[in-house]
Amino acid sequence: MTRLLQGMYPSAVNIIRLDHTHVLSTFHQFDLDDWPTAKRGLVNTACTALEVHAQLEEEIFYPALREVFSSQTLEESPAEHDEMRSLIGRLRGLAPEDAGYDDLFMELMRAVLHHVADEETELLPAAQRLMPERLNELGGRMTRRRMELTVPRAGEIAGNMVRAMPGSTLALFTAAVSGVCLATWYGRRSRSHLRSQLRRSR
Ligand SMILES: [Fe+2]
Ligand SMILES: [Fe+2]
Repeated sequence: MTRLLQGMYPSAVNIIRLDHTHVLSTFHQFDLDDWPTAKRGLVNTACTALEVHAQLEEEIFYPALREVFSSQTLEESPAEHDEMRSLIGRLRGLAPEDAGYDDLFMELMRAVLHHVADEETELLPAAQRLMPERLNELGGRMTRRRMELTVPRAGEIAGNMVRAMPGSTLALFTAAVSGVCLATWYGRRSRSHLRSQLRRSR
């Protein structure tokens, strides 16, 4: 692949860092006192993002890194993903009102924070140091694979994001959508009124 084509794709390291930032910001929004629907939306948003992210790393990033680097952290990473998947599975089997739901999500947060710290301080710097020429190609493959994994789940992902919105944001979002609908309806009505006026004046 030419340098020009490589530059068209985001670096795998940047993709991974952005995914981590997104998940951690979802964690920061978790509020014990939130209403159950919002809690469920937020938790599901974080869980889906983690599942997709882990799969991208296991299928594309880790195998490429293993060709040039080995360490205990890298070897243990898939097992840490499995631990996260197990916590996610248990969370999905509970309702936000159930005893233990919040504690289980906190446990997932702790596991993810530990895992992300290992990746950001050891694996990503190793990838930048040892295979800089492959990062954009890997980023392209990760971007395409993400589309394959998320498109079939687009409805579920959008629904969770809306449920996770704080009340004030949801109200603004609803008002914006209503405003667009109203403007469209009013625009159509005005045009039809104008057309009938023109017909009458002929
Ligand atoms: Fe990661
Ligand atoms: Fe990971």
